[in-house]
Amino acid sequence: MEYPNLNSQSAALYRRAQQVLPDGNSRTTIALKPYPIYLDEASGAEVIDVDGNRYIDFNNNYTSLLHGHCFEPVRKAVDAQITKATACSFTTEAEIELAELLCDRVESFKKIRFCNSGSEAVMNMLKAARAFTGKPKVAKIEGLYHGSYDFAEVSLKNRPEDREGLVPRSTPYSFGTPNSVLREVIPLPFNESDATETIVQQHADSLACIMIDLMPQTLSMSSPSKEYLATLARLSKQYQILLAFDEVISFRLGFSGGQGMFGLKPDITSLGKIIGGGFPVGAIAGRADIMSVFEPGDGGTARLPHGGTFNGNPITMAAGKAAMSAMDTRKFDQLNAMGDKLRQQVTSTLNDLNIFGQVIGKGSLFAVRFHNRPMDNFTDIVVKEDERVFMEKLRNYLIGNGIWIGGNMAGCLSTATTQDHIDLFCESLSDGIRA
Ligand SMILES: Cc1ncc(COP(=O)(O)O)c(C=O)c1O
Repeated sequence: MEYPNLNSQSAALYRRAQQVLPDGNSRTTIALKPYPIYLDEASGAEVIDVDGNRYIDFNNNYTSLLHGHCFEPVRKAVDAQITKATACSFTTEAEIELAELLCDRVESFKKIRFCNSGSEAVMNMLKAARAFTGKPKVAKIEGLYHGSYDFAEVSLKNRPEDREGLVPRSTPYSFGTPNSVLREVIPLPFNESDATETIVQQHADSLACIMIDLMPQTLSMSSPSKEYLATLARLSKQYQILLAFDEVISFRLGFSGGQGMFGLKPDITSLGKIIGGGFPVGAIAGRADIMSVFEPGDGGTARLPHGGTFNGNPITMAAGKAAMSAMDTRKFDQLNAMGDKLRQQVTSTLNDLNIFGQVIGKGSLFAVRFHNRPMDNFTDIVVKEDERVFMEKLRNYLIGNGIWIGGNMAGCLSTATTQDHIDLFCESLSDGIRA
């Protein structure tokens, strides 16, 4: 197969889709130029497109599939639930079961509230922080992606030059973002403790929370340093600002999520992706006193009313429970060991080719970069234009050779990934770089 092939079924479907869907789809993050590939079926670590081409999936629906596609326990749980009830204006035991499973695993999760996407989870986490503290502003790390909510999107497309001295500018991501939003979101410079402390001190009286992702995709899967995380924890305690972790992706790092791996205890956490077993999901979890903002108070109205027609829907709850129950600590260790193997083999591949490059990430998450800069500050992490162009060409080569990976050469493994898949990935990577 060759990508692109304008005579393919995928290219034809794209031409048809453009008549009724803006850019032919409903998801900016899966856009692919000159046309997206249309999926026919998927199983385990493999997907097949409408032209019959097979790919090994190193994207797993942007990290949401812990077990690859159509995992049998998830299918069985969904089949069983679908014959009972799919959506209802009642609550179900399935919701309690998934909540119990998650609260048992993570020390900081005293209570949990479900919604339908990671974006909604982040939105409600920020709203909960405001409702609990009574303070209007939120701080986030410059350049980090947290889904589609205009407050969470601030500074997402910042470049290193978008600073005033050491202070990142509050910039909009979408056209039409109100200036009032920009004023209420304070971007912090990744891993720069002193500058962060100065900025937080300046806004301390009005800051509801500081939000961070432990494994930020838009920062090439480079984790914040221990020292930086300790600074954020100290500042949040000192100034009664909530420490908010966005674990929509990093929760797949271990049995107790990224916070377990890093040994940290945030006040509140947003979740999504893996906890839905492949179905649409989001959740907010945290301290009982903070989560009480969702409970009706004396007047009968919650401080943060939170409706949602499909919140906690039984299909997602059943699928999430099946996927998460299949992962004990040993299974997470095995999956993460596969990630270590992949990183070792990619490193050897790059060394053998004698080119500038490195593989970053932890657990089952990884990203390949084509430079040897250290990856600990925003300026060095941001992908340069020539690197971006190279990665785009390489990705198209990989797609043409049956390797499905995210546009920024970031990927993840599932329990369906085998050693053969890793070998094929490294072979194709090597051939692609040479080509
Ligand atoms: C860290 C993080 N937060 C939030 C989101 C938004 O999740 P969703 O796409 O389910 O809305 C994402 C999505 O990739 C994410 O990576």
